[in-house]
Amino acid sequence: MARPQNESTMIPYGKHHIDEEDIKAVAGVLRSGVLTGGPAVDAFEQAVAQYVGAKYAIALSSATAALHLASMVAGVGPGKTLITSPITFVASANAGLYVGGDVAFADIDPLTVNMSPVALKNVLEKQSNIKAIIPVHFAGLPCDMPSIKSLADACGALVIEDAAHALGATYPDGNRVGCCSHSSMTVFSFHPVKAIAAGEGGMITTNDESIYRKLLRLRSHGINKLDDAFMEVSMSQTNGHPNPWYYEMQELGFHYRITDIQCALALSQFKKLEAFINRRREIVERYDLLFSNLQYCRPAQTSGRAESGHHLYVLRIDFEKIGKNRKQLMEALRKRDIGSQVHYIPVPAHPYYRMLGFLPEEFPNSQKYYQEALSIPVFYDLTEQQQNHVISAIKELVG
Ligand SMILES: Cc1ncc(COP(=O)(O)O)c(C=O)c1O
Repeated sequence: MARPQNESTMIPYGKHHIDEEDIKAVAGVLRSGVLTGGPAVDAFEQAVAQYVGAKYAIALSSATAALHLASMVAGVGPGKTLITSPITFVASANAGLYVGGDVAFADIDPLTVNMSPVALKNVLEKQSNIKAIIPVHFAGLPCDMPSIKSLADACGALVIEDAAHALGATYPDGNRVGCCSHSSMTVFSFHPVKAIAAGEGGMITTNDESIYRKLLRLRSHGINKLDDAFMEVSMSQTNGHPNPWYYEMQELGFHYRITDIQCALALSQFKKLEAFINRRREIVERYDLLFSNLQYCRPAQTSGRAESGHHLYVLRIDFEKIGKNRKQLMEALRKRDIGSQVHYIPVPAHPYYRMLGFLPEEFPNSQKYYQEALSIPVFYDLTEQQQNHVISAIKELVG
């Protein structure tokens, strides 16, 4: 039964959950007098590193900033290539362009929506000078990391996991995404629709101390950090004693720092991560069950349900068969107060990438996926009643 459209009753496709503890945590920072570069940043980094099982974590202003720095560290640049999946947010690919490098795409596996190792192998056979491979754990489902890592090793590229969707997800071996057992770096996002919200924010985890030290410098203008040796020793001392004001910019870095205000919120949210993911999993299992016998509509991912971070719930719909195009279906859902979205337009199909010479039709699995995909609501606060409403609307409109 259609309900009148009303923003306050609108069910979005994704939404963060904020409680009084989060508000208190942020207020605590505001009262503390330290707004940035303080203890909340360190505490959040330590908490995530420990949770995912990585030696180091570095918090940044966004996952986009994190991907930029990670691709720099991997050595992407003029004449060097980064490979990622076509079905991702543009930031995963843009990371290569920011540093003047080339970007290539390896098509998805239609069953997982993740980068296909077979497609990756084919791309690697045609490309040289690959410095970084960025698999994207789409919707929180971990990629086939052992296969991707062995292909990367064979061509001397670093693996950077784009885990913007996958905080809290586990690999089939039970390790957590972010432990970097099959990569050099893993990138997370704390944008509000993600597993936990910082407002904006990102993080890189790594087990490599030299990568960690370089990232620390690049996060803050390329200025020396920790016990980095000074390059201009004479400027650093007076009569053999350290000059208290002295610091050095040793390479060209950025201002990609995150504030204590954001990290206090993220840390408070992080304490609820398991609850957030468990609820998302419940919602997903219910959708899976109740959509299992629809003729022209199926979940885009079915494997790894116990392991995924469940950032998105994507349906694949045969729009021709249901007699409605995607726009009509989205409008019909919207009239029933249900938000939906498309994740994602294949990156090579964007005008900027077409201008660079990419042809979306070269990635047929991604193209077909894009024609059929629609994300429907999944978030912690989605009530059973709201989910029932979504399920009956989908059954009515698509079934
Ligand atoms: C797969 C993926 N990578 C990277 C990003 C960029 O994250 P941020 O908004 O934190 O820069 C996003 C954001 O939506 C994403 O979905």
